[in-house]
This record gives sequence, structure tokens and C-alpha cells, in this order.
Amino acid sequence: MDDNIVKNAEYNEGDSFEKTIRPGSFDEYIGQKDVKENIKVFVSAAKMRNVSLDHVLLYGPPGLGKTTLSHIIANELDVGIKTASGPTIEKSGDLAAILSTLEPYDVLFIDEIHRIPKYIEEILYSAMEDFKLDLVIGSEGQSRSIQIDLPPFTLVGATTRAGDLSSPLRDRFGITCKLNYYTTEELTTIIKRSARVLDLSIEDEAATIIARRSRKTPRIANRLLKRVSDFALVNGNGIIDEDITNSSLNRLHVDEYGLDSTDIEYLSSLINKFNGGPVGIESIAASIGEEQTTIEDVIEPFLLQEGFIKRTTRGRQVTDKTYEYLGIEK
Ligand code: ADE
Repeated sequence: MDDNIVKNAEYNEGDSFEKTIRPGSFDEYIGQKDVKENIKVFVSAAKMRNVSLDHVLLYGPPGLGKTTLSHIIANELDVGIKTASGPTIEKSGDLAAILSTLEPYDVLFIDEIHRIPKYIEEILYSAMEDFKLDLVIGSEGQSRSIQIDLPPFTLVGATTRAGDLSSPLRDRFGITCKLNYYTTEELTTIIKRSARVLDLSIEDEAATIIARRSRKTPRIANRLLKRVSDFALVNGNGIIDEDITNSSLNRLHVDEYGLDSTDIEYLSSLINKFNGGPVGIESIAASIGEEQTTIEDVIEPFLLQEGFIKRTTRGRQVTDKTYEYLGIEK
């Protein structure tokens, strides 16, 4: 078994910025009102009954706060959290190692749960349903099955693709929540809060500009805040005002709609190489050199939501809005 799986679960240096500004309670968590209010009730009920919270599936585009919510759930339940990610669980032993570290009522957060190999998914079924771990041990010819009791725990699974989960796995989540894109007002509040936590000074208009240009996504808003604060520090007086924000975002090639250079490349390619579509995802992927999954999970959801593209049975197609936006005659 790879020791790093559990270690990585506890510490990932690359995430330290996100960890610093991550809200720790429902009260600090902005937006996703319905999801938040419902989960709050389920957490309180589980605590009143003294049972583990039902397993929770969080789905939606990347960067909307699935990881953050899972930590808040653990905090509010007053239990520990262990985290892992679908692609790092390669062998049944990897899953067993993580499960065996759980204390009663802990949260086990599995990010990108749709990427767990199918046969490992099956081990999860009984772990989730009966808190039992079924393992086959020994080498071929001498193997035998053993069953290990697990403490009651809550699996919080996160995915950008709920549709890719098998239905037996999906059925074992008692609570399923879809996270949606944020409003400009919510993002403005998040940016101001992050600035406070990071001790940055930002003017209200600047926060709103960043919010408008963040693809409706807190993770992007927070990253842009950090970059703009770099420009303000090096090229200005440290204060994040309207001017420095606009000039920084232009330098970062983030436009007024929040579209970045990859979005523009995607849309331009649809128009210039495929006559506006409809065109299949494979052709787009080959044309712009991005993975199909990146296109489907990261790029397209926002463009669809904003009405730049639509999906038809014959493929993706740009809308009039895109021609107008790119200044191209139809
Ligand atoms: N940082 C990232 N997402 C957040 C949210 N929903 N509320 C507050 N801060 C956040």
C-alpha cells in the first residue's frame, strides 16, 4: 500500500492558499443557500440522534466549494475528516488503508469519486451500507475473503459528473446536492472576506470587478484576487483599487465576461474551423489540444450556462451571442 495516500490526504502544500481562506462553518460559507440550509438540518438531526450523518454526494462544476463544504460538514459534526481522491485509489488496499484510519462518525471525503475504478467502487458498497469492509487476502490459489468491521462514518463524495457514477453507488448516498454558479453579489462578498482574512486592502468597486470576471466561481475569484494583489503590491501602493484591478485583469487576459484565453480559443475554433457547429467533442478536443474531460467538465459548463454555446444531438454549436461577442459576422 502506498503510504502517501493517507499522508497526501492530510497535507497538500499546493492547497495552502485555499486552506487559509476556506470558511470553517456554515455561517461563514457564502451562497448555495438551499444546499447549505438543507445540510445544516441533516447535520443537526444526525447529532441529535447520535448517529453518523448519511452519505453525501456533492456535484457540480469545479471550484464551487465542494471540498470546502465537506470540511464544514466535518467541523459542524465535530468529527475528523480524511480526504482522498478517486484517481489515487488504485488498489483495494489503498481504500482499505484509508478506511482503517477512520474514527467513529468521521467524514471520509473522496474528491473526483467518479474516477474510482469500478471494482473498488464495489468494495465501497458494503462499507457504505453496512460499515463492513470485504477484502480478499492472500495470493492466488490460497486467497480467502475476510470481513472487517468499520466504525460508522460519513462518506462525502464530490464529482463534476454525477452521471458517471454507477447507479448502485449513487443510490447509497442518502443526501445528494448540486452546487450552482455564484451571483456577482455572492462572489463580491467572498472576495471581501478573503481579502480580510489575507489582510489585503481592497476597494468595493475592485471587489465587484473581480467578481464579475471570475466565471461565477469562488476558486477563480480568490485566485484573481491574489494575482491582482501582487500587481497592487509591486506596481501600486498595495491598495487594490479599480484601476489596478482592470489593468491586472487585462494583463491576465481575463475579459469582462470572465472568459479566459482557453474559452476564447474554444469559441473561436468552433466558428473559424467548424463554421459555428454543430461539431463533436472529439473534433474540438483535437483542434484546441485540450482533453475531452477538461472541455466537458471545466470549459463547457460555464459557456453553456452563459448562453455562448448550446448542445444539440449533433454536437456543440455557438449562439448568436458568441458571434456578437467575438465581433464576427455570421
Ligand atoms: N471561499 C470559497 N468558497 C467560499 C464560499 N462559498 N463562502 C465563503 N468563502 C469561500
